[in-house]
Amino acid sequence: MKFFTSALLVSSFAAIAEARLDTPLHARHAHVKRADPTTTSAPAQATYTTIPPLSEITFGMPTRAITAFVATHTPGETPPISGAPVLPSALSLTGYPPQDKIPPTDSAQVKEWMKELEGFHIPDISPTKDSTCAGDPAAAAQAAQRGWWTCGGHTRSTDIVSCPTKFDWGISFDDGPSPQSAILLDKLKQEKLHATFFVVGSRVIERPGMLIEEYMSGHEVSVHTWSHNTLTKLTNEQIVAELGWTRKAIRDALGVTPTTMRPPQGDIDDRVRAISLAMGLVPIIWTSTPDGGKFDSNDWRVAGGLITGVQAFDIFQTILTNGSTIDTGFISLQHDLFEITVDLAVGYFLDTALKHTPKFNLQSIGECLDYPAGNFYRETTVNKTFPYTNLTAGGIDVDGDGIVDIISKNTSTTSAGFRVSASLLSSVTFVALALLGQL
Ligand SMILES: *[C@@H]1O[C@H](CO)[C@@H](O)[C@H](O)[C@H]1NC(C)=O
Ligand SMILES: *[C@@H]1O[C@H](CO)[C@@H](O)[C@H](O)[C@H]1NC(C)=O
Ligand SMILES: *[C@@H]1O[C@H](CO)[C@@H](O)[C@H](O)[C@H]1NC(C)=O
Ligand SMILES: *[C@@H]1O[C@H](CO)[C@@H](O)[C@H](O)[C@H]1NC(C)=O
Ligand SMILES: [Zn+2]
Repeated sequence: MKFFTSALLVSSFAAIAEARLDTPLHARHAHVKRADPTTTSAPAQATYTTIPPLSEITFGMPTRAITAFVATHTPGETPPISGAPVLPSALSLTGYPPQDKIPPTDSAQVKEWMKELEGFHIPDISPTKDSTCAGDPAAAAQAAQRGWWTCGGHTRSTDIVSCPTKFDWGISFDDGPSPQSAILLDKLKQEKLHATFFVVGSRVIERPGMLIEEYMSGHEVSVHTWSHNTLTKLTNEQIVAELGWTRKAIRDALGVTPTTMRPPQGDIDDRVRAISLAMGLVPIIWTSTPDGGKFDSNDWRVAGGLITGVQAFDIFQTILTNGSTIDTGFISLQHDLFEITVDLAVGYFLDTALKHTPKFNLQSIGECLDYPAGNFYRETTVNKTFPYTNLTAGGIDVDGDGIVDIISKNTSTTSAGFRVSASLLSSVTFVALALLGQL
């Protein structure tokens, strides 16, 4: 396909690594070293399914040849979800914005999607400077009021952050679809597991067939933005463009519109949250322990050259321990963009998780939530309140500031739409500003 280059994949991943606070600059050059066969003495991998020993899974390892992807599904086929439309004809690449860049906001499409915010309360919070706590101390000082996950792990009642039942493990893979996804899909099929895939729009238009394979195999598909930029630093229009184009790419490929999203790097605050919810996309983040430990496999650090596969496996052991001790189930973070992250999942993480005693119940996120599969798409949801845009009465005060954020489209913003509670009186200027924005 004309858009595809491996450099694009790498630049997308480098973008992930770059914005991480603790990422040294050399991580950006991971692709340079990976391409150089003299940097390692490990044997080249001959076959598609061979996974190297853990000690060899590291930055600079040789890459294996990938068998060409062969689609097993065709337009007109019936998906496994009750009520879903048949698979559409092949996605047309015309009309999409440039890959891996924040899409322009002056297009007719984005202007149309902006109308979806009408009737919803979008908090008047300034964009963060660069989505990092250190880069924006003023915003970081307001992190709790902003519901900013990046600085302190703040979440709201509308966020999906864990599986309710102890020992249930919601597995998720971000940043694909990629050529490597096929290997992961084979493994999941072999183990009879479903997972949730948080996909990047720029990757979806490169590999719609791989996305179809995920969807038709019973995995869940969710929005992970167009360019993989972090969201709290963007304007409302840019956030709408990032989510809107990805939602459209998925819809064009699969015929269904996702009802969920995951912000890159978990970077969400009440503004990003409200925009996502207004667009019918419920945020899903990976689980944190009460003291701030994260169920992050750290596979991305290996691909970025920050730690070795062995070190990532050690961190993975703490996920097993923490997962056994917290009161609820949990959602973990893994990636299917790079060979390294897929090798770790397929060769080590999944098997280790499956063999654990006491037993974990590995599932997709929707399965661990006991949601019917249809909840994940607008065309098939039979849940009157999922996504929340289907609320027809009342609403939800997402951020606890006394203002009802999620309201029925039918509710006028000047009448019963907003309740002002006593808690508002004791709130700070921040809330007053939010109110001003709405008046
Ligand atoms: C596991 O829990 C410990 C203690 O709560 C925490 O320090 C660590 O970061 C956690 N690790 C993971 C991967 O969740
Ligand atoms: C319906 O959605 C709500 C959230 O709006 C959720 O709490 C509930 O569990 C869902 N029910 C089903 C059956 O999916
Ligand atoms: C949710 O709303 C959409 C339109 O926004 C509608 O097509 C769908 O039928 C609704 N679903 C439910 C369960 O009410
Ligand atoms: C708006 O209200 C009308 C009349 O009560 C109802 O038929 C319709 O479904 C509502 N639409 C939405 C989006 O809630
Ligand atoms: Zn990501």
